[in-house]
Amino acid sequence: MANEKPVSVGIIGLGRAGWGIHVATITQPVVAKKFRIVAVSDLIGARMDEAKAAFGCRTYANMDDLLADKEVELVVVATFNNLHVPHSIAALKAGKHVLCEKPMATSLADADRAIQAAKESGKILTYDHQMRFEPAHCKVVEVIQSGKLGEIILMHLSQHMFRRRWDWQTLKQVGGGEMNNNGTHLVDEALQFLGEDVTPKVTSDLRRTPNCAGDADDHVKINLMAPGKPTIDVEVSNSMAMGAPHYQVFGTYGALVGDMDKLTWRFINPASLDERLPDPNPTPDRSYNRYDLPWQEESWSAGNADQSGYVPLYLSLYETLRHGAPLAITPESVRRNIAVLEECRRQSALYSA
Ligand SMILES: NC(=O)c1ccc[n+]([C@@H]2O[C@H](COP(=O)([O-])OP(=O)(O)OC[C@H]3O[C@@H](n4cnc5c(N)ncnc54)[C@H](O)[C@@H]3O)[C@@H](O)[C@H]2O)c1
Repeated sequence: MANEKPVSVGIIGLGRAGWGIHVATITQPVVAKKFRIVAVSDLIGARMDEAKAAFGCRTYANMDDLLADKEVELVVVATFNNLHVPHSIAALKAGKHVLCEKPMATSLADADRAIQAAKESGKILTYDHQMRFEPAHCKVVEVIQSGKLGEIILMHLSQHMFRRRWDWQTLKQVGGGEMNNNGTHLVDEALQFLGEDVTPKVTSDLRRTPNCAGDADDHVKINLMAPGKPTIDVEVSNSMAMGAPHYQVFGTYGALVGDMDKLTWRFINPASLDERLPDPNPTPDRSYNRYDLPWQEESWSAGNADQSGYVPLYLSLYETLRHGAPLAITPESVRRNIAVLEECRRQSALYSA
């Protein structure tokens, strides 16, 4: 009989992600039936006390003690970006499954070390790339696959913000920067849209603007191109005072535009158009050709539903851990993401110096 016990979780790092995402998700009723927080570790005692008061879990000032806790089956790594690989490898070596925050690694060599450690341990290593499960992302995939927009030729994926920031996410020494922070989410989406076996040509522009402190990038432009695939522009910036929507998808018969809460797409049905053959003569009425296009428009709204992909990501991971379902977010699929980020750093004066 299948093991239906809740998965015992140990969380390392109780900050914005560890507390605000992982604790918040695991405590949602549908997830709480399947996962249980049994241990936490943080450098800040008050954060552990808060968890202990809420869940009666064990607290460990030293992460290694959490890894030695026999009850912990799954370790959530929600620490600084430069610690993801060492913390994931330590957890795997301790015989734990790992759900690690993004970015997977701050270098491709480190990503490979994590993959190797997962192979040697025989444990599950996966990543919080929740965009793959977000309802809006899934709807965009569905509309593209419906063929209504024709062949997709261009996509803009944007996270345009205008804000000041000065925390560790602005510092290179801990793997900060907007590319590692939000860029990796949009690159992950782009790679999903391009398809599994595609290795795109990468062109990029990483900058620092006056709006963020630190020394890492805070304005990111990445262009991905592959033969026979849409060109994809990824833009993540803290200096876009008037921003574009998250999704702009352009196909030969229509386009889709929208954000995580609402998407709209308009398209024509090519079968309904009269044929037009090329005419080498001047137009009789000096017009630029006129054709009343029979536009159709559809839309989707998340309504009051959860717009994030965290709950489905956890439920999918439970199926893998308890019922042997294929892992949804494999380390190999995330390695492609890290390869793109590494190439962007290679092209950037900010990182090559
Ligand atoms: N998937 C997402 O959408 C998403 C959203 C936010 C953050 N993140 C990721 O989550 C990670 C954490 O980011 P954050 O914003 O929560 O940072 P944060 O600063 O709010 O939290 C990090 C926590 O880790 C703790 N910590 C650091 N080193 C530790 C160690 N050795 N042992 C135990 N605890 C340690 C810190 O004390 C802090 O409480 C980052 O990698 C970030 O990229 C992901």
